Amino acid sequence: MRERLLAAEKVKAIEWRDGTLHLLDQRKLPIEEQWLAYGSAAEVARAIRDMVVRGAPAIGIAAAYGLVLGLRARLAEGGDWRAALEADFEVLADSRPTAVNLFWALNRMRERLDHLKPGEDLYPAMEAEAVAIHDSDREANLTMAQFGVDLIRKHMARPQSLLTHCNTGALATGGFGTALGVIRAAHLDGLIERVYADETRPWLQGSRLTAWELAGEGVPVSLNADSAAAHLMKTRSITWVIVGADRITANGDVANKIGTYQLAVNAMHHGVRFMVVAPSSTIDMSLETGDEIIIEERPGHELLEVHGQRFAAEVEAINPVFDVTPADLIDAIVTEKGVVERPDAKKMAELMNRKRLH
Ligand code: MRU
Repeated sequence: MRERLLAAEKVKAIEWRDGTLHLLDQRKLPIEEQWLAYGSAAEVARAIRDMVVRGAPAIGIAAAYGLVLGLRARLAEGGDWRAALEADFEVLADSRPTAVNLFWALNRMRERLDHLKPGEDLYPAMEAEAVAIHDSDREANLTMAQFGVDLIRKHMARPQSLLTHCNTGALATGGFGTALGVIRAAHLDGLIERVYADETRPWLQGSRLTAWELAGEGVPVSLNADSAAAHLMKTRSITWVIVGADRITANGDVANKIGTYQLAVNAMHHGVRFMVVAPSSTIDMSLETGDEIIIEERPGHELLEVHGQRFAAEVEAINPVFDVTPADLIDAIVTEKGVVERPDAKKMAELMNRKRLH
C-alpha cells in the first residue's frame, strides 16, 4: 500500500527550498495555482491567518519553518537573539487559535532549541528539526491510511459510499492527507463507490480543494451543499463519514471544521459510522474535554460576501469556524499510533502512552 500511495502523490502545498518557504496559495485554488515565497516569521504568521496555508498539520509545519526564518533573521541582527526570537514564537502562536498542531510544532522547535548538544550548529539543527516535523507528518499519513482502510474493510469489504467535510488532503498536511488519505487509500484498494464532499461554507474547502484533489486522482466524487448531508445519509447508502481534526482532547472530544458536529449527530441517527483521522500531534492531553477548546471566530464578511461583493442583508454575521463533536458520537479515532474505537479518556491515555512510530 505504502508504495502505491507514494506513487499516487500528486499535489503538495508546502516546500522548503534554499532557505525559503514556498506555499501554494489555497485561497486561489482551483482557479489558479500560484506559489508564494516567504522569508520571515511575521509573513508566515500572516499567511496562516489569511488562509494561504490551512489545515491543522500544514499550519504546524508552516509555523516550524516560520520559526527557522525568524531564527536566521535574529542571528543576523546580532545581540540577544534568543530573547528576540520570543517575538517570533509569539507572532506565529497568535496566528490561529484552534488547531493544536501549530502549538505542538512550536513547542517541538522550542524543545530542540533548549536541548542543543554542545558544539552543535544552531541554525542547521533547527532547520533539520522543521524538516523532520514535515517528514514525520508525511509518514504518519501513510500509516493512518493503512489503519483507516483496514477499519473500513473490517466492516464491509466491497465498494461503498463515504461522506467527508472540509479539506484534509495533501493541501492540509505534509503528505497526502488524514481523512482524505484514508479515502485515497480506500480508492486504490477498490473500496470506493463514491465520495460525497460537503462544500464547507464559508471558505469552500470542500468544493475548491477536496473536490479538486479527488477529481485529479480519478476518485468518483460528488459535491453537495453542507445542508444536504442528512438527506444523503438517508438516501444514498453512505457507510462512513470520515473527517479530520484540529484538536482532540483527553476524553476523545474532537474540534474540527464547523459543521462536523451536526454530521456526527446525523450519522448516529442514520446508523452511519463516524471516523476521525488525525496524527497524534493533533491530540491535546492538557485539555480534559472539548469545552475547553478555543473556537476561532472569523470576520463576518466571510459569510456576507463573495469575492468582496456583498450579497447578504445588512445584518451581523456569526462566523465560528470550528465546532466540537463529543466523543460519544465517534466510532473511531485513527492516528499513526493506532486506532481508538469508541474513544474515552482511558483509551486516549493508553494510545498516547504508546511510542511514536515516526
Ligand atoms: O479552517 P481550515 O481550513 O484550516 O480548517 C481545516 C479543518 O478543519 C480540517 O478538517 C482539519 O484541519 C484537519 S486537516 C488534516
